[in-house]
Amino acid sequence: MKLTPEEQDMLIGKHGKAAQKSMEILTTLGGIFDAKCMVDVYSVQIAGVSYANLGEAGLEFLSEMAEDGKVKVLTTLNPAGMDRENWQTLGINDEFAKNQIRVIDAFAKMGIITTCSCTPYFIGNVPHFGQHIAWAESSAVCYANSVIGARTNREGGPSALASALTGKTPKYGYHLDENRHGQVSIRVNAQVKGTDGFGVLGKAIGDKLIKLGKNIPFITGIPSATVEELKSFCASIATYGGTALFHMEGITPEFDRYPKPGGNVSEINQEDLEKARFELVDDGLEIDFVSIGCPHASISEIEKIASLLKGKKVKKEFWITTARPIKRIADEAGYSKIIEDTGAKFAADTCCVVAPIKGHFKGMMVDSAKACYYGRAKNKFKVKIGTIEECVEEATK
Ligand code: F3S
Repeated sequence: MKLTPEEQDMLIGKHGKAAQKSMEILTTLGGIFDAKCMVDVYSVQIAGVSYANLGEAGLEFLSEMAEDGKVKVLTTLNPAGMDRENWQTLGINDEFAKNQIRVIDAFAKMGIITTCSCTPYFIGNVPHFGQHIAWAESSAVCYANSVIGARTNREGGPSALASALTGKTPKYGYHLDENRHGQVSIRVNAQVKGTDGFGVLGKAIGDKLIKLGKNIPFITGIPSATVEELKSFCASIATYGGTALFHMEGITPEFDRYPKPGGNVSEINQEDLEKARFELVDDGLEIDFVSIGCPHASISEIEKIASLLKGKKVKKEFWITTARPIKRIADEAGYSKIIEDTGAKFAADTCCVVAPIKGHFKGMMVDSAKACYYGRAKNKFKVKIGTIEECVEEATK
């Protein structure tokens, strides 16, 4: 790989040990994927922040990098294992909290902004069209590539940190035009609405892509979609289809930039959506936990939850998961008080998947197809998907 003099200097240790280690990681990665050079990145988003994922080995790596490492570009974090202010009321034990704080402190020492969120694009980590970035969270990667038109591969924890400490990433994969073309046309012949509806669509298309062995769909038949619907769709298609980039006719910014895929057009009809929704509801379900905010809730979703909950009392554990800066806006707007007066809880910085809550609940209701997948796989909950209105109704009945 051709390196600039600055990149060479990093590689031979002139910029310190952490930058050297980072450049070693990035050149190795670039070598594997046959990258010709590095590219400057505008921002980084790091995943694998929960102590439950990192453990002592991961923490040791971070502490080493933090000895002399300092970020070169705007860098934010994915959700951590707990709400950093409100962890006790969410049932997180002291030992876990102590270790999670050690993790966050190591990131902070490197100059990383410790807002822990999977929707960095709601809180100031917002690239513009065509910009190169190095993000790690799968739903945010899909959103950045598809909805914003920025360019990122799906980074792992170490490679994202390496990009943060050097401001570089190897130029391969989704950084290159030739790898951003749609591979298969999918026509949606059904009405889709709501975060749950777009999550169900993401699962239906994701399942189809796996069968077809493709991962960049060119989707037609969707007349409009809100930001919240697109974030839910991105999370779902990334989960079920492994998709990091899609094009949606009339909606995403690169839909007419590349030639349309040839070959057959696959169809998604009402029946496919009903089947996908049916698969997101478990038998023998006993719901004792409701969670909204996967990916992290926007201020508009929080406003909606507040208006639906106003004056009621919740009868089940009910979390609203969001980024802390969004929670602060909700505080100022008065939505937090309305929500907390009902007994519902904010879980900022974390979510129903990365928090260590396995065994705390039996059945979880959500509006997110991604949360269904990981609620089952990671926390062994039985799950049900529904609209935000149905989630609120379930929590209050
Ligand atoms: Fe975000 Fe957690 Fe969902 S990290 S995308 S809220 S599983």
